[in-house]
Amino acid sequence: MKDELMSTSWSTLCAAGDLPDGEARAFEIEGARLCLVNDAGSYFCVDDLCTHGKAYLSEGYCDTEDCVLECPLHGGLFDYRNGEACGEPAEKPVKSYAVRVADGHVQVQL
Ligand code: FES
Repeated sequence: MKDELMSTSWSTLCAAGDLPDGEARAFEIEGARLCLVNDAGSYFCVDDLCTHGKAYLSEGYCDTEDCVLECPLHGGLFDYRNGEACGEPAEKPVKSYAVRVADGHVQVQL
């Protein structure tokens, strides 16, 4: 019963093969705009809106060597594994979300 209740909070973003390795893509779901990253088959999801200004991280550079998203506006860096700000001028983290692959689909826990 507990597992059933918990599973209802997972939302499907795309099929597992839809997002190429090393890319980030925006998804709008349930009023949230999220940035999904595929790092060699491991998926990570954070809020897409930068915490420094009005720019979307999915439109910046995705660096899977350092596990960061670079904001396209001022170059702030965020660790896509946990949302932490790790490069100026970004200071506040973006929210990160749990991700799983189930039945061939990438799902996020909102
Ligand atoms: S808007 Fe993202 S670093 Fe300034």
